[in-house]
Amino acid sequence: MKSSKVILVTGGAGFIGSHVVRRFVNNYPDYIIVNADKLTYAGNLENLTDIDTKPNYFFERIDIVDKQAVMKLFSKYEFDGIIHLAAESHVDRSITGPDEFVYTNIVGTVNLLNAALNSWTDRKEGKLFYHISTDEVFGSLGEAGFFTEETAYDPKSPYSASKASSDHMVRAYGHTFGIPVIISNCSNNYGPNQFPEKLIPLAINNIKNNNPIPVYGKGENIRDWLYVEDHALAIDIIYHKGRSGETYNIGGNNEWKNIDLIKLLCQIMDKKLDRSPGTSERLITYVKDRPGHDMRYAIDSSKLKSELGWSPLPEFEKGLEKTVDWYLSNTKWLERVISGDYKKYYDQQYSGR
Ligand code: NAD
Ligand code: TYD
Repeated sequence: MKSSKVILVTGGAGFIGSHVVRRFVNNYPDYIIVNADKLTYAGNLENLTDIDTKPNYFFERIDIVDKQAVMKLFSKYEFDGIIHLAAESHVDRSITGPDEFVYTNIVGTVNLLNAALNSWTDRKEGKLFYHISTDEVFGSLGEAGFFTEETAYDPKSPYSASKASSDHMVRAYGHTFGIPVIISNCSNNYGPNQFPEKLIPLAINNIKNNNPIPVYGKGENIRDWLYVEDHALAIDIIYHKGRSGETYNIGGNNEWKNIDLIKLLCQIMDKKLDRSPGTSERLITYVKDRPGHDMRYAIDSSKLKSELGWSPLPEFEKGLEKTVDWYLSNTKWLERVISGDYKKYYDQQYSGR
């Protein structure tokens, strides 16, 4: 069968990328999906064992910072589309080591843009460079208001500054060289396969093992949580129906103070682990705040909803419960990712806090 599209997904072995790859491989059997990933600590091919033997799926281990390797990849395949997720993604790591964020998030993105430009010189119609970004590029909100597509960029962490830079480069290549580009900026994701350095899976793992749950500062910072499959659905819709040159905000309309979210998670975990109510909450431990900690993120995703008809899963508690169930039944996955380097990272990050 002739494939109707060849799509490159970068970072497809990571948390969100693996859900995007699975969705595209299963829903579009006539597409060829090429997953290019360096397999850093955050990349894990075990996330894709259910689809990795499908005939329309290919994996290429490459570092997007390596220009030659990126060029070689683009000479091996003729890509119609690129869905670019590969990134260093954890704010705390960007504080202890910003350089990797500059290399992967900025230089890596420019390498991909150059390769796309080079391979699409003759024909740009029907092509698309779709860049997956974050709401953190907009900075931090006070008590009121939402980030819209018009909000000025004001990144505050090395992570968000590197993502903002990459967004600017994508727009600049669209504007200057005429590459069809789309960017989406999404709020905090949660769900299966998230590396347990991020708040929700870290808390699930610690509660399970009766370890302290580290809450930064007073726990009053607010995040807008979205189930990862709702993000993958949005990416699918935007890839197919989004207008070139546009930006779309994606969010759950689901704001939670960290401490309230952790308490809800503790209640769910008490039930799942047959513990008496209040047991897990006793593990909550307030620790030193993250430097420059953004206070509040909240996304206005009305453009995506009204123009393209997307809507997220309505019930956060159900999504959270599904996530807890996944972590409790995928103990092998969890054990493997928290062995080795994870312990070293954890000790460095949390000792003396
Ligand atoms: P993740 O850290 O789980 O996965 C990142 C993936 O990129 C990994 O598989 C890793 O191996 C790969 N990668 C890293 N450096 C690479 C390199 N140099 N070359 C090739 N591959 C490399 O991240 P995630 O949470 O799945 O986020 C994916 C994308 O979505 C990122 O661009 C992130 O900025 C964006 N995003 C994430 C969230 C969130 O809540 N997690 C929210 C909005 C946007
Ligand atoms: P995180 O999952 O790292 O996402 P982001 O910083 O990109 O929003 O953190 C979510 C929130 O939880 C953020 O306000 C920081 C806070 N947090 C803790 O309180 N304790 C932790 O151990 C972690 C990892 C995060």
